[in-house]
Amino acid sequence: MSDKIAYSRHGDIAVLSVQNPPVNALSQAVRQGLLDGVTRAEGDTGVRAVLIVGEGRAFFAGADITEFGKPPMEPYLPDLINRIEASPLIVVASMHGVSLGGGLEVALGCHYRIAVPSARVGLPEVHLGLIPGAGGTQRLHRLTGVEAALDVMTTGRQIGAAKAHELGIIDEIRDGDPRDNGIAYAEQLLVDGAAPRPVSGLPLPAAIDWDGAFEATLARSKGQISPAWCVRAIQASYENDFAEGLKAERKIFFDLMQTDQRKGMIHAFFSERAVGNLPELKGVAPRPVAHIAVIGGGTMGAGIATAALLAGLRVHLLEMSPEAGEAARERIAGNLAGALKRGKINDEQHATILNSALQIVTSYDTLAEVDLVIEAVFEDMEVKKAVFGELDRVCKPGAVLASNTSYLDINEIAATTSRPGDVLGLHFFSPAHVMKLLEVVVADKTAPEVAATGFALGKALGKISARAGVCDGFIGNRILSTYRTCADHMILDGASPYQIDTALEAFGFAMGPFAVADLAGLDIGWAVRKRKRAEGLDSRARDTTYADKLCEDGHFGQKTGKGYYDYAGGARARVPNPDVLPLIEAERAAQGITPRTFTDEEIVRRYMASMVNEAAKVVGEGIARRPLDVDMVLLFGYGFPRYRGGPLKWADIVGLDGLLSDIKAYADTDPYFWQPAPLLTELVATGRTFDDLNKEG
Ligand code: CAA
Repeated sequence: MSDKIAYSRHGDIAVLSVQNPPVNALSQAVRQGLLDGVTRAEGDTGVRAVLIVGEGRAFFAGADITEFGKPPMEPYLPDLINRIEASPLIVVASMHGVSLGGGLEVALGCHYRIAVPSARVGLPEVHLGLIPGAGGTQRLHRLTGVEAALDVMTTGRQIGAAKAHELGIIDEIRDGDPRDNGIAYAEQLLVDGAAPRPVSGLPLPAAIDWDGAFEATLARSKGQISPAWCVRAIQASYENDFAEGLKAERKIFFDLMQTDQRKGMIHAFFSERAVGNLPELKGVAPRPVAHIAVIGGGTMGAGIATAALLAGLRVHLLEMSPEAGEAARERIAGNLAGALKRGKINDEQHATILNSALQIVTSYDTLAEVDLVIEAVFEDMEVKKAVFGELDRVCKPGAVLASNTSYLDINEIAATTSRPGDVLGLHFFSPAHVMKLLEVVVADKTAPEVAATGFALGKALGKISARAGVCDGFIGNRILSTYRTCADHMILDGASPYQIDTALEAFGFAMGPFAVADLAGLDIGWAVRKRKRAEGLDSRARDTTYADKLCEDGHFGQKTGKGYYDYAGGARARVPNPDVLPLIEAERAAQGITPRTFTDEEIVRRYMASMVNEAAKVVGEGIARRPLDVDMVLLFGYGFPRYRGGPLKWADIVGLDGLLSDIKAYADTDPYFWQPAPLLTELVATGRTFDDLNKEG
């Protein structure tokens, strides 16, 4: 028997305990062990019931994702589940922690299911670009009805034990030890004379309009295809017998397994976990952080304070005057009211946060005891230096001093203090209590334990933290600046902002770059352009000024009601602003450009090539340690479609040599902008991919 399954007897019950830490993934050895365990129980004299229970944190977290993309190994999960279901013994699942994907499907193959109140179940395969592939689409709706089953499968969300019980997925909820509960339940079933009860034998619930559901799900999924295929898989259970339904499910599962979407989503799954795990910080202990200060209570400062308060930290928020302090408190209270409404905190926690965890202060001298400070004041080097001078004066030794700057030089800021080793960048994304991304900017002199503290804080705040080195814009804004420039060049040459947004939204971006600019505020880009011009643009760089004219007329995007789009009908009902195209035409005329047409395909290709090329420079220069760090920054901070994995995973999938050839061809007309990244050139020359670099660590 596999060492992943412990077999024991408890009277006439055989107990199969699964031991595959950390989360009992259903690896080949686990599947083999379960198969052997059931077979042994059936031959074990006196055994009348089998209990399957997980050791450690979970029942089962599902199929072993590390086995995906490799040749399948016997015993296959669907066969194992059929075997369990066909057993003449009563088979009971006792569930705790999570039962996800194949894990829930194993439970559905058991005849009876009991769970502790904290247990959670779900079929998250769509998040991996797949559908449930071990009978989930053939069994679940027989317990819950089609609508609820589709909701579970197409959203991939986890549901709690109480809801699962209400839906008929779980038969019993009982608090206590899962093994003891399972044994007691099995004993009771035996006393009651219960018989095996295969879910596959239950009658089918009422059918639905399959084509309508397929189309509606496809439309909701923004380019991702697997949710809609859950509909077709369930539909198959109505068209033939159970065995044929399973075959149809398996075919869809394997077809999806071959897709780029599956590759992109599995890359995202592992990268999301790897991004905060830096080899260089292994074993480096972070400094303890329980009490922080935020300097500045504008939208960003208030958002950061909210995130920290929601994570249970004490926060001193420093503003310049009692009035500004009051305005900051109101912003935070507004954010917290949203959290209360969404059930993230209860009334008592809400009151504690506002009445004691948050303190608004106006004097730096009150910050002597804080463990970490995040400065979120105006983006001006002199202002930041003044703040850090004060922090250096008042903060205790060992306090971590962080700047939330989006692009300023952290080395320069650190150099104004007597303790540059304690200084780093913590770049949040607005609204900071909602957006998942945090760039941890490690400056030349940042001490390893200070960098580790940045990551620990990110984790405490529920963020995806990526390490970035110092450069203008760090990882995300630097790459954004390049692909946004590429979009502006296409506009000069003949494309419209609306065609570009539409093409990129069809590619899968949550919003096109011009809609994003309207959301962020056109004044931000305007300030950056003015700064770059003041620093002196290279004579070979193409510049655009049409957007400056919008700003000069007071149109800053959504916050003023007009930008590239007109928002008179509300933020979601955008229509093109009729002033924009004439401004663009005037600029083309002034620059002597004869506009040409672009296909949507060319727009996407150029935009993505510029993004990948800059990303390769960011990795090549060590600003990002690994390609996966760039991928996660774009995914969690810039609306890049998760099912494409990130720009560098996308580049690997479409082929680096083709991209490099395109970049070289684009360079014929603009050699300054389209300078191939040395790393991209090297990878193509050596026949390697970005993912190879991820594996090298
Ligand atoms: N296979 C392989 N490894 C897995 C895994 C799985 N199904 N689930 C989690 N892990 C690994 C993680 O990669 C991580 O490894 P490292 O420590 O080396 O980074 C470790 O287990 C712990 O995971 P988390 O850090 O995510 O821990 P958590 O407590 O935050 O979350 C979890 C636990 C809720 C189980 C989460 O890991 C999760 O959602 N896992 C994926 C579940 C899933 O998608 N299951 C469906 C699989 S597809 C399937 O089953 C297809 C089918 O129908 C046959």
